[in-house]
Amino acid sequence: MPKMLTHAITANATFEFAADVRAGLTHPEQKELPSKYLYDDVGSALFEVISFLPEYGLTRADERLLRRYAVDIVEKLATPVAVAELGSGSGKKTRWILEALCRRQRTSYYPIEISHTALAMCARELGDIDSISILGFEREYLDGLLEAAAKRRPGQHLLVLFLGSTIGNFDRAAGLNFLREVRHILEPGDSMLLGTDLEKSAAELTAAYDDNLGVTAAFNLNLLARINRELGADFDLDQFHHVARVNCAERRVEMHLRSRRRQVVNIPEAELLVEFHEGETIWTESSHKYSPQEVLNMAQDSGFRCEAQWIDEQWPFAENLLIAE
Ligand SMILES: C[S@@+](CC[C@H](N)C(=O)[O-])C[C@H]1O[C@@H](n2cnc3c(N)ncnc32)[C@H](O)[C@@H]1O
Repeated sequence: MPKMLTHAITANATFEFAADVRAGLTHPEQKELPSKYLYDDVGSALFEVISFLPEYGLTRADERLLRRYAVDIVEKLATPVAVAELGSGSGKKTRWILEALCRRQRTSYYPIEISHTALAMCARELGDIDSISILGFEREYLDGLLEAAAKRRPGQHLLVLFLGSTIGNFDRAAGLNFLREVRHILEPGDSMLLGTDLEKSAAELTAAYDDNLGVTAAFNLNLLARINRELGADFDLDQFHHVARVNCAERRVEMHLRSRRRQVVNIPEAELLVEFHEGETIWTESSHKYSPQEVLNMAQDSGFRCEAQWIDEQWPFAENLLIAE
C-alpha cells in the first residue's frame, strides 16, 4: 500500500457519537441521526458499492465530467496550487484532476475525511500518481481545511474539491452557510470545484436511493448496527426498514429507518432507553437537488463567482468551478 501521512482524530470520538445519538433520538417530533455517522468501515465500503449501482447515476455523471473537462478545469486555476478535498471517499474520480495538475506541477493533495477506511482507500487509489504528495486529515471538513490551508506556501493557491454532491447532505441554508465558511478560510483567487446533483423525476430519485439489490438499505441500516457495535445498543435490525422518501416541496430525497413495530431500544453508552412507535422513523440523511441557476446564486451569495459550469448530458449533474473573490 502506498504511504500516506495521516493526522488522525484525537478527540473522544465515542463520547461525541454517544452525545449525538442521544440528542438525535430524543429530538421532539422527528427522531434523527447525523448522516456523517453512516460512514464507518462498513458504511464506507457500502457507499463504494452504491457508486457502481446502475440506478445511482450520480457518481458516474460526476466522473464523466471530471474525466472530460479535467484539462479545462486545471487551465482555469491560478497556479501554483495545492488541492484539499472535503470528504474524499475513495478518491477515485479525483484522479482525473490530480493527473492533469501533476502534469503541470508537483502537487500536494490533502484529502479530509472522518472515515479512516475512506482515507486509506484514497491513499491506495491515488498514491501511484507521479509528482504527488498526499497528506490525509482524519478530521471534520472545516477543521481539516483549516489545517490544509495552514500548509500553503507563500504565493500558493488552494483548490478545494467538494464532489459527489455531498453539499446536498446539508439543508439549503446550512449548505450556503458552509460555502461561506469555506470561503472565509480561502484567499481571493483560490478556487472550489463543487459537484451538485440536479433536479430529476421522483421515479429516478426513488430508484437511486432505494435500489433493487438493497445496498442502500444496508448502508442505511448499518447505522443502527454501528450503534450496536460502538455504543452497546440492542437494535434488532429486522425490526427496522429502509425508506427513501422524495420530498418534492423541499426538492430532496430523505433516507429514513422505519420501525416495524412498537419497541424499546437500550443504548447503554448513551445512557438512553428509547421508545419507537410502529411506523415511526429515524431520519438519517438528506440529499438536496439543485437547479443550475441556484448553484450560481449560492456561489455569489457566499463570496465566490462561478467561472464555469459543466452539465452532464446523461444524468443531470453540474460540476461548478467557483473562484473566491
Ligand atoms: C457522499 S460521500 C462522497 C464521497 C466522494 N467525495 C464521492 O464523491 O464519491 C461523503 C464522504 O464524506 C465523508 N464525510 C461525511 N461527513 C463528513 C464530515 N463532517 N467531515 C469529513 N468527512 C465527512 C464521508 O466519510 C464520505 O466518505
